[in-house]
Amino acid sequence: MAETVFPQGFLWGSATSSHQVEGNNTNNDWWAWEHAGRVKEPSGLACDQYRRFREDFDLAKSLHHNAHRFSIEWSRIEPREGEFDEVAIAHYREVIAALRERGLEPLVTLHHYTNPLWLSNQGGWTNPKVVEAFARFTQRVVEALGDQVQYWLTINEPMVYAVMHYLDGVGPPGERNNVRLFVRVVEHLLRAHALSSQVIHHVAKARGWDVRVSLANHAQPFPPCRPWWPIDRVAAGFAEHVYNQRFLKALVEGEWKFPGFPRVRIPEARGSLDFIGMNYYGRVFLRSSLFGSPWWGSRCSTRHHKNVTERNFLEWDVYPSGIRQILRWSVPYRLPVLITENGICTTDDAQRTRFILNHLRWVGRAIQEGAPVMGYLYWSLLDNFEWSYGYTPRFGLIEVDYSTQARRVRESGRRFAEVCRTNRLPEQT
Ligand code: BGC
Repeated sequence: MAETVFPQGFLWGSATSSHQVEGNNTNNDWWAWEHAGRVKEPSGLACDQYRRFREDFDLAKSLHHNAHRFSIEWSRIEPREGEFDEVAIAHYREVIAALRERGLEPLVTLHHYTNPLWLSNQGGWTNPKVVEAFARFTQRVVEALGDQVQYWLTINEPMVYAVMHYLDGVGPPGERNNVRLFVRVVEHLLRAHALSSQVIHHVAKARGWDVRVSLANHAQPFPPCRPWWPIDRVAAGFAEHVYNQRFLKALVEGEWKFPGFPRVRIPEARGSLDFIGMNYYGRVFLRSSLFGSPWWGSRCSTRHHKNVTERNFLEWDVYPSGIRQILRWSVPYRLPVLITENGICTTDDAQRTRFILNHLRWVGRAIQEGAPVMGYLYWSLLDNFEWSYGYTPRFGLIEVDYSTQARRVRESGRRFAEVCRTNRLPEQT
């Protein structure tokens, strides 16, 4: 492929989330889950970024990033229902100031998987009260930080959140295949996003601030496990339609319908996206099944699948051209698209370099074909707490030695830095 030149003003950087990097988030449901022995190892001090953020942002700046996505920890800001912690709010003001001082555009996520304990004790995202609670939290945060933030992401990967916690049971409350709760949680996530987006726009308008709101939507192609078997093709097509297309459509058209459940109208979702945030990791292969996730069939292992030519450390599929596919899906919405996450865990850093460059080549191709891509954020700036897998998977551009908290920039981080600095990807040799 020829040299790729990215649009002017392209956002280049990386993403993290509070619970995965900050350390000592003792007041949320994930911490409780970890300490109930439900994960390989607890998050503990994580990357100690609550204290070391300046050092980490110095590194991001040295790697020529011009943007950084991070999340605000709800359980720190609102430790008890309705009580806001001014010290925690001041902390995040410092975080944002530190980013701005280094020329990094802050992109703020309001919810990235974790819930304050008081909320999870009331049923978390299954309780309709969560919609108002999230709006109140949003309002407090935006009033306090909004003069310094233009880009807001309400919720990280609503679909993954619902699947992981209510179908796969690998996070709190550990529900397995509870389709009834799953459908309810997705509805509340959609409603909460919509109301939160309204609140952000409302607060910003009253104060004359310019804001852009979205969420980080997880998208993935679903090929059939056995392409020659029509029933697998149906299961895969169904999942692709519901998970990727219908979810995004619900946000734009204000209506969500999950097969077998009543249609839900969410008119306030219309206009809730100023751009589309997309997280992309790879494909998921599906087979029809009466077991597994009952609504779309079950995933088949990528370990031996002959169409999987490359895998990451966790044996997930690596499929660079898929990023072009998900970017194509977003074209009809006529909204700018930001890659809010794309990354790989690997012990082979050369594989990470290839992963980044190959994905960026396909992003470049999608741009040439008309996809209005405004930026690319790699997951993640540094190795961090990978939820139920603990600290073994290494996603970082920067290596973390957890025994000393020392950071070391990887070669892949430097190679990505060259792209960020020049805003171009040299011709493939
Ligand atoms: C999530 C991150 C996670 C990453 C790698 C994304 O779906 O937003 O929290 O660490 O995937 O698994």
